[in-house]
Amino acid sequence: MSQVLQQINESVSYIKSIYKDEPLAGIVLGSGLGSFTSEIKTELEIPYSNIPNFPVSTVEGHSGKLIFGELSGKKVVAMAGRFHYYEGYSAQEVVFPIRVMKYLGIKTLLISNAAGGMNKSFKVGDMMIINDHISMLTVNPLLGKNESEFGTRFPDMSEPYKKDLINKAKLIAAAANYEIKEGVYAGVTGPTFETRAEYKMLAILGGDAVGMSTVQEVIAAVHLGLPVFAMSVITDIGIREEENTITHEEVLQAAKDAEPKLTHIFKALIAQL
Ligand code: HPA
Repeated sequence: MSQVLQQINESVSYIKSIYKDEPLAGIVLGSGLGSFTSEIKTELEIPYSNIPNFPVSTVEGHSGKLIFGELSGKKVVAMAGRFHYYEGYSAQEVVFPIRVMKYLGIKTLLISNAAGGMNKSFKVGDMMIINDHISMLTVNPLLGKNESEFGTRFPDMSEPYKKDLINKAKLIAAAANYEIKEGVYAGVTGPTFETRAEYKMLAILGGDAVGMSTVQEVIAAVHLGLPVFAMSVITDIGIREEENTITHEEVLQAAKDAEPKLTHIFKALIAQL
């Protein structure tokens, strides 16, 4: 058995030894979006540091635990705190929890993140359904020998974000009277925010929003055959004529402000799974 499969088996066995139910959906919470977890009727929380082979989260605003429980009447597992490539983890480490959640039984993956807006019609606080992505020099987590247990050597990436989930989310947003954007997420490594020239370039290349997560997780999920729904909260506007700087604190605050809407959409979507 390959090393990564063995590691996943160890993590999964440990979790199954203390939590018996099979989660239907996995949820990854982005920067400033962690209080979503208070909506979950929590049955068990497992700090990452207790799980064999799990990386440990280091960024402010990411608490670092798996939360098991019920949301909208469905069993879910949520990652409070994700792993970013810029923290120094390998691409394989970044996607390790996605693989663990798959082997715990999830059938759908929901992802949120904070992102910088580049589409000129976006403003801070907007929510954007991700309908495609561009990997901007993010390292592909599938590099190296293919683990055929996970999936095929050359995964098709024509629909990484499932259309039926996007359509359901749009109906949910419309029913709640939320204005919702839709667009392409450009994934970068960070940790620097982009220069003015880089924001401009990413917009020219077709990006509507830019962020430092998600792309590697989605690639791993597609490899595993997991349907994905992902949403960005626009926490800052990269393309502006006037002088502007971006701080992590501003990003966290903007995410917090938009969180109730994102929570509603995720909850309603999970109810329909
Ligand atoms: N750029 C990259 N990542 C981000 C941004 C941004 O402007 N905002 C939040 N995450």
